[in-house]
Amino acid sequence: MNALTVAAEAADELRSRSSLDCFDVVLVMGSGWVPAADALGEPAAEFPVTDLPGFAPPAVEGHAGRVRVVEVAGRRVLVFLGRTHLYEGRGVEAVVHPVRTALAAGAGVVVLTNAAGGLRPEHQRVGDPVLIADHLNLSGATPLTGARFLDLTEAYSTRLRGLAREADPGLVEGVYAGLRGPSYETPAEVRMLRTSGADLVGMSTVLETIEARRGGAEVLGISLVTNIAAGLAAEPLDHEEVLAAGRESAGRMGSLLAALMAKL
Ligand code: HPA
Repeated sequence: MNALTVAAEAADELRSRSSLDCFDVVLVMGSGWVPAADALGEPAAEFPVTDLPGFAPPAVEGHAGRVRVVEVAGRRVLVFLGRTHLYEGRGVEAVVHPVRTALAAGAGVVVLTNAAGGLRPEHQRVGDPVLIADHLNLSGATPLTGARFLDLTEAYSTRLRGLAREADPGLVEGVYAGLRGPSYETPAEVRMLRTSGADLVGMSTVLETIEARRGGAEVLGISLVTNIAAGLAAEPLDHEEVLAAGRESAGRMGSLLAALMAKL
């Protein structure tokens, strides 16, 4: 069956499970961001993503694989607690299915959060959120195969970044390099990414952004710097460090998201 048809079926199922007929915003919570979702308030509904057509359970620890419906300041928000990554081997269609489902359910604003390695330790600290100003899609994939050309001049909405800065005036911006993973980068790759103009490196987001733009939605991307990228710090990287940084920053991330929802 066609992927857009499955997304439309998933949107129908969401409507019947939540008794809402339309959503305003979708929020995708990446590694470490899941605890911040609680700051949005009491869910109106929550269930495993696998209850919806076309969804498979995420394979990675820290990716809860649940979907939540919550109303924040009058906005009907769909929250995916966890996402599918390209490195899980289920293909691009599985990676972008939550975004397709949300757009089919009416969402016009897509907020993508992720954990990222910091490539500029001189002005980034672990635990800081960084607004994504632009991206380098180095995943080797695209959700657009067979589709039309797509302008990505403003992949990440200037308007939404302005609203995020109103919510948290301390927010800085950066360019996110999206790689396939699942290995972390080598120090040589980190040097290459810095030279290429990237400020952040991670394994998600870029394909979801492209799909959201194809569907005409506005995108806001926020990275949580969970570690300094390989070779720039003395320590080797491990996934537990990424999750711990998320737990420690959940308060600030949660307040930021709640304040942002009220401004959308
Ligand atoms: N590299 C790639 N992905 C990541 C990193 C990193 O250093 N930290 C969190 N996700």
